[in-house]
Amino acid sequence: MRYEELASYQKSLLSRAESVAKNAYCPYSNFAVGAAILDHQDEIHVGANVENAAYGSTLCAERAAIVAANAQGSRLYKAIAIIAQPRTGVAKNPTAPCGACRQMLYEFASLVEGDIEVILANTEKTQILLTRVSELVPLGFGPRDLD
Ligand code: THU
Repeated sequence: MRYEELASYQKSLLSRAESVAKNAYCPYSNFAVGAAILDHQDEIHVGANVENAAYGSTLCAERAAIVAANAQGSRLYKAIAIIAQPRTGVAKNPTAPCGACRQMLYEFASLVEGDIEVILANTEKTQILLTRVSELVPLGFGPRDLD
């Protein structure tokens, strides 16, 4: 869909994700990513990716946003927006969450009645994808499986 068709809260979330990507620590990939979560109190929590010389210790923007929200006691989420702002060039396609971030989102989607909306954009916001955690993680493993 087109950026202009987004609701104002969706545009705001993307804008917050875009801004926080400037704070990404990504000296190895130069692929800066920002994420912004809208919670059930209509508060926004943001995160940017944090890389590490031991590459596998990298934390993605989505999980950074979740841990920031959690630290504020916020665990019920309505939506998350994700956008990459590479230090050079652009991400041509919308940046979708990696498997580990999907799994973490699945955990929190299990805590809410409905689902969590996922708003994805390419760097120039010429491509927008609206999806949901249930679509990104079909047949996921979550808290209910431990009952
Ligand atoms: N990355 C994110 O932060 N979120 C995504 O959705 C995709 C990947 C980060 C991890 C790493 O710092 C860099 O992008 C390149 O993979």
